[in-house]
Amino acid sequence: MAPVQVRGEVLSIRRVGDYHALTLVAPGIAEHARPGHFVALAVGGEDTSMLLRRAFSIYRVQERGVYGGTVEIVFAVHGRGTAWLARCRPHDPVDVVGPLGRPFALPREAVTATLVGGGYGAAPLFSLAEQLRRRDCRVDFVLGAATESRLFGALEAKRMSTQVAITTEDGSLGERGRVTDVLPAMMARSGAEVVYACGPMGMLRAVTEIATAYGAHSQCAVEESMACGVGVCMSCVLPVVGDDGRTRMVRSCVEGPVFNGERVRWDAIGTVPPDTVGAPDDAAGGGHRP
Ligand SMILES: Cc1cc2nc3c(=O)[nH]c(=O)nc-3n(C[C@H](O)[C@H](O)[C@H](O)COP(=O)(O)OP(=O)(O)OC[C@H]3O[C@@H](n4cnc5c(N)ncnc54)[C@H](O)[C@@H]3O)c2cc1C
Ligand code: FES
Repeated sequence: MAPVQVRGEVLSIRRVGDYHALTLVAPGIAEHARPGHFVALAVGGEDTSMLLRRAFSIYRVQERGVYGGTVEIVFAVHGRGTAWLARCRPHDPVDVVGPLGRPFALPREAVTATLVGGGYGAAPLFSLAEQLRRRDCRVDFVLGAATESRLFGALEAKRMSTQVAITTEDGSLGERGRVTDVLPAMMARSGAEVVYACGPMGMLRAVTEIATAYGAHSQCAVEESMACGVGVCMSCVLPVVGDDGRTRMVRSCVEGPVFNGERVRWDAIGTVPPDTVGAPDDAAGGGHRP
């Protein structure tokens, strides 16, 4: 299903700790969204100079409501665009494109899954947990953030899972430390076969290493800076190893944002590794040396 552009309307906006949860009436998007998809919102209103859309993971959707399908996102105020969104009030118009990207792959059989969320990165994991539970999968959560106010969804995670581990870097809730401090013990107890993760790149890299060490498959939703969100500008590329063992610069907005963690060259993000297909130094791939 191709993404659609709709003139959405703010249904509600509320504070959740340090974040804002924004629900938009966006018919045509909610109906086709799957866990891991994202939306791109126009920010700043009609006369703005902020031309680029801002990307947000979909937290949850309601396909049929009194007002039509709704999409909810959870966001932190980062710069001008998110500050504008935080000032939106019910009935304000917001232009939305979605659902975008490639969602989390769901297992065909009942597996044991551990879901790892860093800060607002936890948001897309709850609809995923619902889908996994419908497939009789065991679901455990590990949620972490710098402080309690930056944790998202701790109560929801408790309600939806067999085991939950919470970490905060300042020790304000759960164990003091990072998600990766508690993940190995959690995986050892549950025998997790797949780890789904969303959060900062450093966290995704470390989670992938742990998952691999425990023989589990990993699915990571990355957050690369995006300009167009629909595959034309190449601003969101990252190095990913293909089935043929070769590295390619892959667009995270259309081929991601969810990737098989073992395939991402985490150590080379932000660069074009010399052995990338088409890179200037890639003699084998037919690239040209300057
Ligand atoms: C697939 C995806 C999902 C995301 N999901 C969420 C979410 O659920 N909640 C949330 O709070 N944030 C999320 N982000 C990050 C969010 O897009 C940025 O925080 C936001 O674009 C910042 O806009 P700004 O105008 O406030 O900040 P500015 O710094 O003024 O933004 C300027 C430009 O930089 C880009 N940019 C800045 N920071 C980021 C970033 N961290 N990631 C990507 N692009 C960035 C923006 O696209 C924008 O074009 C996601 C990003 C991606 C790519
Ligand atoms: S954001 Fe433009 S190609 Fe991905």
